[in-house]
Amino acid sequence: IPVDEFDLVIFGGTGDLARRKILPGLFRRFLAGQMTEGSRIVGAARSDLDNAGYRQMIRDAIAEFGGAEKDDAGLDGFIDRLHYVAIDATGEGGWSALSDLVRKDVVKAFYFSVAPSLFGALAERLHTHGIADADSRIVVEKPFGRDLASAKALNDTLATHFSERQIYRIDHYLGKETVQNLMAVRFGNVLFEPLWNSHYVDHIQITVAETVGVGGRGTYYDTSGAMRDMVQNHLMQLLCLIAMEPPSVFGADEVRDEKLKVIRALQPVETHHIVRGQYDATDDAASYRTDVENPRSFTESFVAMKVNISNWRWADTPFYLRTGKKMKGRASEIAVVFKDLGHSIFEGDTARHRNILAIRLQPNEGMDLQVTIKEPGPGGMRLIDVPLDMTFADALGEDSEPATDAYERLIMDVIRGNQTLFMRGDEVEAAWAWTDPIIQGWEARNDVPKLYDQGSAGPEDAMMLMHRDSRRWRDIKS
Ligand code: BG6
Repeated sequence: IPVDEFDLVIFGGTGDLARRKILPGLFRRFLAGQMTEGSRIVGAARSDLDNAGYRQMIRDAIAEFGGAEKDDAGLDGFIDRLHYVAIDATGEGGWSALSDLVRKDVVKAFYFSVAPSLFGALAERLHTHGIADADSRIVVEKPFGRDLASAKALNDTLATHFSERQIYRIDHYLGKETVQNLMAVRFGNVLFEPLWNSHYVDHIQITVAETVGVGGRGTYYDTSGAMRDMVQNHLMQLLCLIAMEPPSVFGADEVRDEKLKVIRALQPVETHHIVRGQYDATDDAASYRTDVENPRSFTESFVAMKVNISNWRWADTPFYLRTGKKMKGRASEIAVVFKDLGHSIFEGDTARHRNILAIRLQPNEGMDLQVTIKEPGPGGMRLIDVPLDMTFADALGEDSEPATDAYERLIMDVIRGNQTLFMRGDEVEAAWAWTDPIIQGWEARNDVPKLYDQGSAGPEDAMMLMHRDSRRWRDIKS
């Protein structure tokens, strides 16, 4: 769907996120015909560049980070849409130039791809220079605070000049195709929803495993850890979507109201229901501590936990969450593990058969449903479990729309004015309110994470967390 004509200003327009994700993503939307004639992108940053310099920088970025489309003949047309203003976020330099450039009569969006400490200064200047109006949108990124107090302070800062319906807080997991498919699967099929509760579901597992380490982000990551970096946002969002009640319509506030109710119903996590881990060195790969250049770091690169939701639907169904870096495979998946049959009519069949609905978020997006069937052959009624596999790419065939990156989808939603896939301020605060005591407990105890082998499924204790409940984690494919 084409969008209205817009001016998108990216503060931090020369930064890593802009060059890797935002601009290559916008280029793909341009090629898809979604950047309406006349729409423009304005990079704004400290560097002393002119339009030509910025255009070259983004040409290089697309050559490096763009996908298959990077050699497309359309590149020149896209580059022509780019402008640049050198700006001093905390001073006055560049603001009147920006004010002259940004038009009054088009949709305006301001992407704050900068440190949160600059949000206030930017919001203030957009306001005093009359660049933003009551319909303008601002886009902010995680980390949105590092605890409840700082998140509240950021919300208050933004609220000084912008109303909640103008603020788009990105959690890029919500822009992933299969994450949205969670809602389609749950609420677009008659098959699943009647079974989606404690009567039929034994437990739910949410895994976001990564093979990468902390990369060049050691300084940020070491003050954050997996709990703040992944659980408070991405895993919580997945938990909300899988657990929430059906909203009455698929509208921004209806969906977010239901997600908020899930977060508010989360029970505090007991200390022995959480395992923290940190990856160890191998013969050829450095340890976490070496990677972050902090030999005494107690920060976790892995977390596993058992979570309970106190509401009617989920009272007896635990949710097991885990995420970690340098694990044996890159796999994000949600598995809904159904209860055992109450009674088996098949004599001699003592094995435990379970239906499992596994939703693969990445890679190889799709679902499989484990069902029990008769083992083929003359051996009588012997039962086996097989997965009914639905890989979306196969099911949709070659005509399906090429993969859309989470960022480009979300940016287009900003221009459309659709907040459904963005976090509301109260949601972010509720998530921190639940996370804070867990992190404070670790800090108070000087909790030492358990070491785990790189390329493994995490520390042994994470396995024990499940075994104690006579359950086990699903395998992470390497
Ligand atoms: C980011 C985290 O939000 O998500 C990173 O800061 C993590 O540490 C990344 O690697 C994972 O995103 P994706 O899309 O690769 O699963």
